[in-house]
Amino acid sequence: MTAPTNKAAWLVKAGSPLEVADVPMPIPGPGEIVVKNAAITINPLDTHMQDVGVFVQQWPAIIGCDVAGEVYKVGADVTRFKKGDRVTGHAINLTTGRPQDGAYALYTVVPSDKAAILPDSIAFTDGAVLPLALEAAVCALSLKVPGDALPGVATPALGLPYPSLDEHVKPIGKVLIVYGGSSAVGSMTTQIATAAGIHVISIAGKHNFALSKSCGAVAVIDRADPDVVAQAVEAVRQSNLEFIGIFDAISSTPTYAHDLEILEKLGGGHLAAVHPPPADVPENVKAGMIFAVNDVAAPVWRDFVTPALESGRLQCLPRPMVVGKGLGSIQGALEKMRKGVSAAKIVVEL
Ligand SMILES: NC(=O)c1ccc[n+]([C@@H]2O[C@H](COP(=O)([O-])OP(=O)(O)OC[C@H]3O[C@@H](n4cnc5c(N)ncnc54)[C@H](OP(=O)(O)O)[C@@H]3O)[C@@H](O)[C@H]2O)c1
Repeated sequence: MTAPTNKAAWLVKAGSPLEVADVPMPIPGPGEIVVKNAAITINPLDTHMQDVGVFVQQWPAIIGCDVAGEVYKVGADVTRFKKGDRVTGHAINLTTGRPQDGAYALYTVVPSDKAAILPDSIAFTDGAVLPLALEAAVCALSLKVPGDALPGVATPALGLPYPSLDEHVKPIGKVLIVYGGSSAVGSMTTQIATAAGIHVISIAGKHNFALSKSCGAVAVIDRADPDVVAQAVEAVRQSNLEFIGIFDAISSTPTYAHDLEILEKLGGGHLAAVHPPPADVPENVKAGMIFAVNDVAAPVWRDFVTPALESGRLQCLPRPMVVGKGLGSIQGALEKMRKGVSAAKIVVEL
């Protein structure tokens, strides 16, 4: 039997299309697994990495964060996985810069504490939607102490509990607004917060109310409503719960303006953002930016993801939009991402 060979969709320089070419078969280090990818996803960041090379540490690069597939090899000290296991995992080229850690390849290295067994009932194309969004959600909710997201930009530190497998989890008496509840990161944060006993009020498009509710949001406010601020404030007051603050999964100039108005009316709180938050926030606002490669998610990967997928407590949402098959389809998938998606995650099968 001939040994399998590896190929990748390489990013050779900023602003150029991906090029499919050979790449050495990765060798897993201690604590790492090699995944034979069956499906990968496209994240908004990938388009910026391609356009301007942001975060690229080494050229040529293999980018991409989300993989689902079968374990091909395990490194030393790996006890949770064996060859042939079906997994979903978070590839971290973003922080290591190593080509073997990028998802746009047939075989990718994934840290074993950023992976989980995918139940047989869940397709690889569904399982691939989870990793980056899951780690972003846990980073947004459960960090206890601010760290560095980017130079000079701290992470948020909401210090909230991890999600529980108990379907009757005790409510913790706190309410969080998720701005952008239909986005991949917003819908996952809604799911994870709900599973931690947090009351979530989401802001999303009317066409995505059902999605946000299926993620656990108790109330959803129309993002297009001119009274979005007043409605959010009223929903928080009506909950009679302690206001945590806002997770802004969009983090644009208009959403920041709404966030600050809501926070002002509710006496301050956390503003956890996905991009650098406004520089000047009032003293009663604790603002930070998540960085979704963070060890805070390890216990969730280890103890929550697989049983929660089995029980349906964790759902692979938003739904995958499979746009092609093979490494040669990834460039077209990136073009689709540039046009934007509504409550969907772009997936390529390999
Ligand atoms: N810092 C980090 O570590 C990190 C990690 C992951 C992602 N991110 C960033 O987080 C952002 C979201 O990523 P994603 O993958 O979750 O995005 P996504 O799923 O592609 O976002 C698309 C969704 O956002 C909704 N949306 C857009 N503008 C909105 C607004 N003003 N109010 C409410 N909803 C709005 C859209 O709703 P409609 O359907 O109504 O159009 C759509 O459903 C991106 O900027 C990404 O780069 C940062």
